[in-house]
Amino acid sequence: MQTDIRPESMARITTKELADAFIEEQIAAVREQVGDKKVLLALSGGVDSSVVAALLIKAIGKQLVCVHVNHGLMRKSESENVIEVFKNGLDANLIYVDATDRFLDLLKDVSDPERKRKIIGAEFINVFDEEAAKLDGISFLAQGTIYPDILESIKQAEGKKAVKSHHNVGGLPEEMEMELVEPIKLLFKDEVRVVGEALGLPHQMVYRQPFPGPGLGVRCLGAITRDRLHALREADAILREEFEIAGLAGKVWQYFVVVPDMKSVGVKDESRYEGWPAIIRAVNTKDAMTATIEELPYSLLHKITARITNEVEGINRVLYDITPKPTGTIEWE
Ligand code: XMP
Repeated sequence: MQTDIRPESMARITTKELADAFIEEQIAAVREQVGDKKVLLALSGGVDSSVVAALLIKAIGKQLVCVHVNHGLMRKSESENVIEVFKNGLDANLIYVDATDRFLDLLKDVSDPERKRKIIGAEFINVFDEEAAKLDGISFLAQGTIYPDILESIKQAEGKKAVKSHHNVGGLPEEMEMELVEPIKLLFKDEVRVVGEALGLPHQMVYRQPFPGPGLGVRCLGAITRDRLHALREADAILREEFEIAGLAGKVWQYFVVVPDMKSVGVKDESRYEGWPAIIRAVNTKDAMTATIEELPYSLLHKITARITNEVEGINRVLYDITPKPTGTIEWE
């Protein structure tokens, strides 16, 4: 159980000046903790691991080894962005592992959401372990743990029941015997973003909407197939692009596409065309425990529908899910 508690005297990090001071403090603390040893980090490209990576690159440069595992369930261009920002931009020591086939082979014919989560979480640890075993002289494991994670683990230790297992890909392989480096563990999410911007990370990375660890795996409903996963990825990219154009990116808390494992009859080029529906979800929430839907303008829905049905192979309808949480959850699985 986590026991780190944020001191009441700790000021909220709301400005660049406060973020700069925090960064300087953490750089000194990390250098003191790590010395000339090497540190390993699973870099998913999410806000938390990205901020930890940028902070540690500043503190210890090439002593940090980042591993980015592409589980094949990333959104369009996501892994490429990680490589662009960290390898090309910050000259990080970054190992990129394309493990798509391993994950999709294991997930073949698996339709139960919790089993899918478990497989993805466990395989992530396997791949990460294998990469770690190839490296020499790693003494520390860095993690993007933030304060709400600590509060959550305290709650779980007290026996509160969760609706979903929420496997967080990138979680600590428990059997790894490495000392932890957790430079942002006392920060709330909004503070992590302020620190991320102060570190010079791209705005769209720092203000990225939350993305579940199992990624598109829990949005390609039921047993994942490569063709449906591809359709989902393309449709989701269109949705995100249209949200950018409409000025909604960064304003709506989470928005994405879900593609269920069912087809309906449609018509295309005057012929029968059986396809999957793309389901649009756009929600707002404070803490993800409850959520309300964003009331998207019909003009935007029309545009997204036209683009998805015209541009994405295999999709013939677009549905808009207006169910709040409860009774829906944010994700469909
Ligand atoms: P639900 O679907 O439970 O989602 O209303 C609440 C928030 O949690 C995210 N989510 C996950 N995040 N691993 C994660 O790291 C998971 O397995 C997982 N399942 C849901 C979801 O995207 C939403 O932000």
